[in-house]
Amino acid sequence: MAFKIGLLGLGTVGTGTAKILQDPTGRNPLLQTIDIHRVGVRSLDKPRSVKVPSEVMTTDLESIVTDPEIDIIVELLGGLEPARSLILNAISHGKHIVTANKAVIARYGAEIFTAAEEKGVYVLLEAAVGGGIPVIQPLKQSLGVNQIHSITGIVNGTTNYILTRMESEGGEFADILADAQKLGYAEADPTADVEGLDAADKIAILASLAFAGRIKLEDVHCEGIRQVSAADIAYAQNLGFVIKLLAVAKREARVATSEPESEMLQIRVHPTLVPQAHPLASIHGVYNAILVEGEPLGQVMFFGPGAGSGPTASAVVSDILNIAAVLKTAGETHHLHPLLSCVHQHYCSI
Ligand code: HSE
Repeated sequence: MAFKIGLLGLGTVGTGTAKILQDPTGRNPLLQTIDIHRVGVRSLDKPRSVKVPSEVMTTDLESIVTDPEIDIIVELLGGLEPARSLILNAISHGKHIVTANKAVIARYGAEIFTAAEEKGVYVLLEAAVGGGIPVIQPLKQSLGVNQIHSITGIVNGTTNYILTRMESEGGEFADILADAQKLGYAEADPTADVEGLDAADKIAILASLAFAGRIKLEDVHCEGIRQVSAADIAYAQNLGFVIKLLAVAKREARVATSEPESEMLQIRVHPTLVPQAHPLASIHGVYNAILVEGEPLGQVMFFGPGAGSGPTASAVVSDILNIAAVLKTAGETHHLHPLLSCVHQHYCSI
């Protein structure tokens, strides 16, 4: 049984994904059943570091999501549109979805998962948070029996890289940002990263999964690192702290209420003084780490490369293989597998 994928986007992550799929040697044998049927790009002329036959490439993205031969759409375009519309259109045509698009899922997750549930297809998003770190499926599967109390993460590699260099070199934010852009560690438009918006998308997704409800982005307090100065970092160091951009989601007992049992969630992104002995203080550079606390587990920390072509592609391909494995076992089915569908259930119960 072979599975045909339609790949939307051949940028950093799309290229990494194509490379893994083109050279499955020595990896999971199921990879050999995955065929890159079509690839949708914005421009056919751009030089690429991966070879894809020209007859497979197109700029007509709609024709890919409606192609009756394709089983799985892998959306790696980024941005809100046309990504959201293409995902919804693909779902309406019965395609399973793998996406790395945190911005779309954080804003339109409920709409997308409701549509997928109705159509009986999967939407998997391991690459949307933490790059190559497996955190989405573990949160719902391996940690599924736990009552999650809090998630505290460094989920943006760009800002962690800048803060790490400010700490080690004593430089100012603007100078290090400019250097990070030159070196390719920061985007030409770094707004989403340095303002904390990328981290807000990611913590909204994690909180929606961990706390079984959809989190509205406007309810996430968000403050970036533009205001952090070399002097702040030096003061923090003298007092035994490092400054990290943390994304936090935690349950809290509601105070001053007539409902004694009621709880609220606080979800926030902001620069934070982290004690030097805390496990998150030693996360340097573009690495991400996500500390989950729950009952009865206690603490578990996920750590690894939070961005980059290979690591993020590893998460994308793991989602493709998860879907392929379930389809292979079940044959063509319109019933959601209980483990994979847990993402849907949590997103849809608002
Ligand atoms: N811009 C993101 C980061 C990429 O710096 O972490 C991964 O989502």
